[in-house]
Amino acid sequence: MHVLVADDDQASRYLLTTLLRGAGYEVLAAKDGLEALELARTHPPDLIVSDILMPGMDGYALCSEWRADPELKDIPFAFYSANYTEPDDERFALHLGADLFLVKPLDPTELMMKIESLLMLAKRDDFSPHEPAVGEQEMLKEYNARLVNKLERQLEESRRTNEELERTATRLRETVDGAVTAIAKIVEARDPYTFGHQQRVSALAAAIARELGLINDEVEGIRIAGLIHDIGKVYVPAEILSKPRRLTDIEFSIVKMHPQVAYDVLAPIDFPWPIADYIIQHHERLDGSGYPNGLTDSQILRGSRILGVADVVEAMSSHRPYKVALGIDAALDEITAHAGELYDKDAAEACVTVFRERGFTLPDSGMPGGN
Ligand SMILES: [Fe+2]
Ligand SMILES: [Fe+2]
Repeated sequence: MHVLVADDDQASRYLLTTLLRGAGYEVLAAKDGLEALELARTHPPDLIVSDILMPGMDGYALCSEWRADPELKDIPFAFYSANYTEPDDERFALHLGADLFLVKPLDPTELMMKIESLLMLAKRDDFSPHEPAVGEQEMLKEYNARLVNKLERQLEESRRTNEELERTATRLRETVDGAVTAIAKIVEARDPYTFGHQQRVSALAAAIARELGLINDEVEGIRIAGLIHDIGKVYVPAEILSKPRRLTDIEFSIVKMHPQVAYDVLAPIDFPWPIADYIIQHHERLDGSGYPNGLTDSQILRGSRILGVADVVEAMSSHRPYKVALGIDAALDEITAHAGELYDKDAAEACVTVFRERGFTLPDSGMPGGN
């Protein structure tokens, strides 16, 4: 026995084909009405099982053509249709000449039973397929009404799916935010200097990124990276972080490990942005004098160059255990003097603009910062 399946949905087509083959039928599958007609005319089946909504030629049109084709009209026609099905669909399908109308999803055993009994019936000498019972005019009118109704329902469903997707995206963003804030709080528990610093660097880096015209998504990645860019300092002994004077070379070499430590912690997390890469490069300098890898110019990611500028400006303008704050003007002078040499020129200029022309101020978290 040979069954022809017509369905535009690949998964449904596969499912039905597999089910029928499992029951011992030979199966050919088509992805729309036209392809089904072509296949049927070259390999006439013993039964066709068709979906309703399909691009090109839908199931209703296929059923009409089927019953009008002298070679095909005696072959039983079954509809097996998905969602958006209502009682009028069945009545209309039977009027068009369909022999069976099944609504998805159907229990596989029940589906196979119905298909088998239709095939048994078709083998009997007294079997005659359903004659189309509607006139052409009436058929056209109802056909249009049925299709419009289905399309409206399909549109409604895709609108609901979109809304659901948007809700999922919002939940995901909130989850990432929550996780990042939790990580930042671990640093806060241990080192309040660094915590306040990260928040301010994050706000400034995001402002610079926006000033540079980066797209919102990239700005968001830079903002998130800023919030945790110094988490590698959990590796640095607290006495070094809060030491009220300059660090010795050995102490400084320990501090210099913090970008790599942060990278090792964050790299396995599948953030939607290259957070770990932004962070490992935030102390790299254009002339190669930075750490940990001595990268130069375009080897340094734009997000890291922006974070680098925000980091230096915040650190210089805030009080820290071993030095008093130099103030924002001195900080802006420093990055302007070394723009293009140590710091990204565009990011440095944008930083000056956000402070001097856009009225940006570093948020006050009530705590002094630390680089
Ligand atoms: Fe740092
Ligand atoms: Fe920093």
